[in-house]
Amino acid sequence: MGDPQERINFLRNEIRRHNRLYYTENSPEISDGEYDALYSELKKIEEENPPLVSADSPTRKVGGGPLPSFRSIVHKTPMLSLENTYSGDDIKTWIERNRRLVSGRRVTFVVEPKIDGIGISLTYEKGKLVLAATRGDGVKGDDVTDNVKTLKSVPLMLSGNFPEYLEVRGEVYMSRGAFSALNAERALSGEALFANPRNAAAGTMKLLDPSRAAKRKLDCFLYQAGVLVPPTKIKTHSEMLEYFKTLGLRVNPSIRQFDSVGGMLEFFEEFNLKRQSLDYDADGMVIKINEMELYGVLGHTLKAPRWACAYKFPAQQASSVLESVDMQVGRTGVVTPVANLKAVKLGGVVIKRATLHNFDEVGRLGLKVGDSVWIERRGDVIPKVTGVIVSKRVGDEKDIIEPDVCPACGSPLYKDEEDVRIVCTNSFCPAQLERGIAHFASRKAMDIDGLGEKVVKSLLENSMIKDVSDIYALGKKELLELPLFKEKKAAALLEGIEKSRRRPLSKFLFAMGIPFSGEKVCRLVSRHFGSLEKIMDAPESAFEEIDGLGDVRAKAIAGYFALPGTEGILVKMKTRGVLPAPDSAPVSDKLAGKTFVFTGKIPMPREKAQEIVMSLGGKASGTVSEKTDFVVAGEKSGEKYKKALKLGVAVIDFEEFMEMTKEKTK
Ligand code: IVH
Repeated sequence: MGDPQERINFLRNEIRRHNRLYYTENSPEISDGEYDALYSELKKIEEENPPLVSADSPTRKVGGGPLPSFRSIVHKTPMLSLENTYSGDDIKTWIERNRRLVSGRRVTFVVEPKIDGIGISLTYEKGKLVLAATRGDGVKGDDVTDNVKTLKSVPLMLSGNFPEYLEVRGEVYMSRGAFSALNAERALSGEALFANPRNAAAGTMKLLDPSRAAKRKLDCFLYQAGVLVPPTKIKTHSEMLEYFKTLGLRVNPSIRQFDSVGGMLEFFEEFNLKRQSLDYDADGMVIKINEMELYGVLGHTLKAPRWACAYKFPAQQASSVLESVDMQVGRTGVVTPVANLKAVKLGGVVIKRATLHNFDEVGRLGLKVGDSVWIERRGDVIPKVTGVIVSKRVGDEKDIIEPDVCPACGSPLYKDEEDVRIVCTNSFCPAQLERGIAHFASRKAMDIDGLGEKVVKSLLENSMIKDVSDIYALGKKELLELPLFKEKKAAALLEGIEKSRRRPLSKFLFAMGIPFSGEKVCRLVSRHFGSLEKIMDAPESAFEEIDGLGDVRAKAIAGYFALPGTEGILVKMKTRGVLPAPDSAPVSDKLAGKTFVFTGKIPMPREKAQEIVMSLGGKASGTVSEKTDFVVAGEKSGEKYKKALKLGVAVIDFEEFMEMTKEKTK
């Protein structure tokens, strides 16, 4: 190993530089994960080499520094940071340590979302907001009272039984909705985009003109009492949060209490899934000991209290370099720019490619080949390039040119004035055919194991297939002629093909790539007709009768089946033994005759919830009427919720819905 002092110097300088970029300039160059890695390394070397520890090391300080343009405020008690943990085991260790420190006294826990915003301290004197200060370096922050006064979620005057003096802490953040709107506006006026809502919130707090800040629509959650005079009789943190609510202070609704670690980890999981659909970014959970009398006993370390810790969700953001851009032709002819990135690990997987969606998006991001970029991945969703790190440009980055001919077949591309997509209109385009066949074989469609993109490409190149029906005429001997196949692989593919002959009709329809028809529409069509023959014989009017399809879609689907090309392929399939099976009947009639409407944000994809209803014999509809039996209202329910109340339709929450759908175990 090299000289530890040298490495320490390097790490300290790097961390200081990144602190400045993050806290003061709002333009970070590395992700939280990369920052944490630098920080942990420094901490480890310092721990192993105590003589090299120094008081000005970033490991001894809390955060950034206040801005010169704002009045500096010294916090009455320091605004500490939180110790980070990353696993269930870390949490268990943290709990055990605290239990030991309080020598067996009863401990319970409050778990809160960790809002990814700007730490703030609000001071109320006789109920009136007199000061708002940022956390700054934890000891000193900026006086941002004028900006904070513009926030709708911060009361200027407390209500209820307020104390003489209250200093309360929380997080100012920008909702995802406000963030997208702000960036869209900035793109229009050619201003640099904010990389994420946190930076946008920080940038807004630092605006010197409060009327500009007001337009940016920030929000705030309060989560911790700083100073309270006279001292209250409140004994627990959860009661304190309840008290906050009575004062009119906004408290996060997703806060739960636990007696032990049991249940806590499931709650983390649950919230981690749910958070994609929330309107704010949360980068973890905060676990706090509920009994406030123990805070004094536990005390704090240099940086953080012992009675609280953060559990960080796996990273969602990382930085990488855009090495090149591919133009990918999809099965419907849409040409999509796809980013080839320098490999980077994000949320446990290595990312090398990310969609850039369309050329408007490329323009909006101001992206060039060679740029350092931010990439994000939320849940299972495919990674996205979300911003350019302009400060890392060296000058030889290259513009991304929008093609005017199809990169696969050379045909001219068509661009709809109103649409952002560019499309290859050549129906014999080989790239479209290749994608279409790969889609046909994909998991959600015919689910043919062994028929991935590479194999499809090779079969097409060797003229062994011309359309999807030819898949069902493939034989082992032919397959073995291709270098890709050996005995075992060929047998596996043929078995996959064989199994697919009886795929459910809805999957078959989805596989065919009918215009305007996703999985849900295909299920509706399949349920309505019950067999491929009936669909093939149906007149256009029969499609219009399908509930929930709509006229435009009905016409498009009928038009697809009326094409001679479609009929030819379907007939060939039939003679080659493809006989889609009827979709399975509902698994029970528990909800038979009942119509459900979902509104607002629920913790599972709406389509999945609708599927549950249908599998139990019920109906899922998109509009509330007298015929609706239940409206399942999630967070932020709007018009449908109001209509349900007006019509006297039963409104239930998602938990009640799940309760209703539970099958009794025999
Ligand atoms: S409690 C001494 N609760 O996370 C305890 N902090 O990484 C101080 N944060 O500085 C904080 N959500 O700005 C607490 N529910 C929450 C939080 C939260 C976000 C921020 C806060 C803190 C930072 C530490």
